[in-house]
Amino acid sequence: MSQSYTSAASAASGSSLSSPARVQWSTRMAFILAAVGSAVGLGNIWKFPYITGEHGGGAFVLVYLACILAIGIPVMMAEIALGRRGRHNPAQGIAALVREAGAHPFWKIIGIMALLSGFMILMFYTVVAGWAFAYAPKAATGSFVGEGGDAIGAMFGGMLADPVGLTIWMTVVLGLTMAIVVRGLQGGLEKAINLLMPGLLVLLLVMVGYAMGTGHFAEGVSFLFKADFSKMTGTAFLVALGHAFFTLSLASGAIMTYGSYLPDNVSIGKTTLLIAIMDTVVALAAGLAIFPLVFANGLEPGAGPGLIFVTLPIAFGQMPFGSAFGTLFFLLLAIAALTSAISLLEPTISWLTEKFQMTRIKACLLAGGLLWLGGLGVVTSLNVGAEWTLFGKTFFDMLDYLTSSWLMPLGGLLMAIFSGWILKKTVMQDELGMGSGMLYQLWSFTMRYVTPLAIIIVFLHALGIVNF
Ligand code: PHE
Repeated sequence: MSQSYTSAASAASGSSLSSPARVQWSTRMAFILAAVGSAVGLGNIWKFPYITGEHGGGAFVLVYLACILAIGIPVMMAEIALGRRGRHNPAQGIAALVREAGAHPFWKIIGIMALLSGFMILMFYTVVAGWAFAYAPKAATGSFVGEGGDAIGAMFGGMLADPVGLTIWMTVVLGLTMAIVVRGLQGGLEKAINLLMPGLLVLLLVMVGYAMGTGHFAEGVSFLFKADFSKMTGTAFLVALGHAFFTLSLASGAIMTYGSYLPDNVSIGKTTLLIAIMDTVVALAAGLAIFPLVFANGLEPGAGPGLIFVTLPIAFGQMPFGSAFGTLFFLLLAIAALTSAISLLEPTISWLTEKFQMTRIKACLLAGGLLWLGGLGVVTSLNVGAEWTLFGKTFFDMLDYLTSSWLMPLGGLLMAIFSGWILKKTVMQDELGMGSGMLYQLWSFTMRYVTPLAIIIVFLHALGIVNF
């Protein structure tokens, strides 16, 4: 079951820092599907709709799209390029680049932070993904039919209050993730992703089709696309930027590790564009599937994190074929979360196998064990341990806050400076394959100035030094 290294004989090329026979994606499409699978997750279907709802719709969507275009895409290009150039797990890959550039060892921190961030995200990701796994059978057995808001709210509250149930679902998600990742890149990740991604797209199309039939589709469209800037606050700006990182899976090892398996002849620019477009289309489609149902049932779009676990089930309980569509929706969410969880585990596994020569089985058991304990901490922070806080934050809140507000943007900032200022110009030119033309200049300008400035402004705001 351990990784097969045979298919990578052609991997070594003059430009990268590869060990001669490291495994690679079998095709360019396999990489694209895997990266889209990583990007499309709870962030698109759970978080994007509810933060859009909270921040008033259209104007927020526009700012989010601008962040994806101006910051997300250039950073993703850099991250894939760093991964492919390093041809290792994030820690050793970045360390190799630091050595190649003769840069200060401080910069190795980029790889270590990426590993840490992905591991920490996965600790709570399995728990929230577990909610989706728990809700699919609830919908299938008609639990929402004819129920009002109070009863459905109590159902969600009841689930969060039950540590045993939450632990079981978290264990199911973690177990599935480990079972796929242990089988290796081509035998595990690629196979599972090839199966899951088409399923996800079909389910999403069915949901959007259904929303079109509610008679409130136009209302959903106008909520998502009619920009009313009077509703935009400074915070909304920051939320949009943070979400651009989260939704594209940036600065947490996933994209860098997937990039480290990318064959040399694949164009990073074009591929990145495709991944970002698909991720954005799925987020918008999720909005188009969800908001018409919300409006058709006279519900509020600004319900917060409960939007798809409370508001949406109320809608499912009232509409024709609601149980069937509810089941499809939570299945869709579960699949999307699983393909992201896989990408969050792989960086740690590649680090353990490459750095400590562990087998994949041992690495999965070790990482899985620690993640299970972390998941247990997250589960208890929702109920029995809700009072155990540090700086007023529960363990769950702390993991979310440290990763989304600090590790990811800081990782993005360091990657931008490292690839824009520290590495020799030719390294990124080689990897991006754009020569020194207009597109390269645009990318380079963004990396050197736009991205660092935008992220620094976010930090100054978070620290209360600037206000807007
Ligand atoms: N992009 C995933 C989502 O939107 C989350 C994720 C973050 C996955 C970081 C991998 C790395 O749900």
